[in-house]
Amino acid sequence: MRVAGTVRAPGDKSITHRALLLGALARGVSHVGGALTSLDARSSARVLRQLGAEISPLRQGDIVRIRGRGRFRAPDRALDCGNSGTTTRLLLGMLAGHRFRARLTGDASLRRRPMRRVTVPLGRMGARFEEHGGDGLPLTVRGGALRPLRYEMPVSSAQIKSSLLLAGVVGEVAVDLREPAGRSRDHTERMLRAFGYEVDEREGWIVFRPGGRIEPFDLQVPGDPSSAAFLVGAAVLAEAGELCVAGMGVNPTRIGFVQVLERMGATIRLEPGDTSFGEPVADLVVGPAALRSTEVPAGEIPGLIDEIPLLAVLASRAEGETIFRDVGELRVKESDRLGLIADNIRAVGGQAEVRRNDLLVQGVEGSPRGRVRTAGDHRIAMAFAVLGTLPGARVAIDDLGCAGVSFPGFPETLRSIAR
Ligand code: S3P
Repeated sequence: MRVAGTVRAPGDKSITHRALLLGALARGVSHVGGALTSLDARSSARVLRQLGAEISPLRQGDIVRIRGRGRFRAPDRALDCGNSGTTTRLLLGMLAGHRFRARLTGDASLRRRPMRRVTVPLGRMGARFEEHGGDGLPLTVRGGALRPLRYEMPVSSAQIKSSLLLAGVVGEVAVDLREPAGRSRDHTERMLRAFGYEVDEREGWIVFRPGGRIEPFDLQVPGDPSSAAFLVGAAVLAEAGELCVAGMGVNPTRIGFVQVLERMGATIRLEPGDTSFGEPVADLVVGPAALRSTEVPAGEIPGLIDEIPLLAVLASRAEGETIFRDVGELRVKESDRLGLIADNIRAVGGQAEVRRNDLLVQGVEGSPRGRVRTAGDHRIAMAFAVLGTLPGARVAIDDLGCAGVSFPGFPETLRSIAR
């Protein structure tokens, strides 16, 4: 395949969720340009409307208008968060500071995902939770007045961190957090600083102090590096040409995959553009490369957590053995991603295995052929679709439609860059 053209990745999923949540909390009208319009973003908009915010329909190319009421009001039905872990966990933090009961649920994948990682520390702050079937959804939260929290997180996770910081915002209490290995994405911290909150790093602790105020805002969402990564991967596997991904967010806590690809032999150019709401943006230019293996240590994992399916698929075509250290978190993503990555690499003729919490991928040659089981996981589907662009490939994906969770129009965009 020859790759060519300039594309834009869809709006950043993490920033879109946060913009919707904070816009719903502000008193007045906010405007969000470039917002992601995918199923996950719609899940956030839907539950926030139930909590009293007015949010215009999420349509590609439209500016989203959010009218918030300063506080949420009690929902009259369960809040269905669909497939979105970010919606659920960040919202739980906000609801912890609201004096009413709310029941949260989601689709079969989300209902299985662990929630005690946020309900335990939120419980220490004073919120109460009723589980309806173990560590997952459905779950009822009853919020109220909150206490300050000083907490060492068991895993590096932006969802846990953001949930607790947002509880600090709504409850107007101090929150100090420490992450074990590597820094997870820091979009929440950057946004809260823009609203006048003190959010600092001191001796390995993230220190949040109340005192800011969530005011209505105008924000332009950059392209999602996690979605762009699939297009970058296709360009790296191509035989000729060059691809430009314009307007991509390049927050350093999100682009660990660029460094890993460079170590694997890819040449990637970042041409810096504007900064939007504290978030740096750039155009990325990339072309084909002969890939070699690398080792990705535990400290690098939080900065590329969502790109591991894609990087593993690329590693399956690189010379030598690539090792991803300590990636047990992948077991509790939208699917058991760790198991599915290894199974599917083998299903299309590659070599991969899981050893304890490490993922080992051996590079092979020859055209990938076989059937891929996605379990409805968008990033598994997109990673293997990229592999399917190799010459002679015959990769049958059971559900490419699930890409719509984060990347509306993914199959069309992938086709559009192949010449
Ligand atoms: C996200 C954080 C990550 C990531 C998810 C989005 C966020 O999860 O996998 O797609 O927006 O905060 P964890 O922080 O739980 O690893």
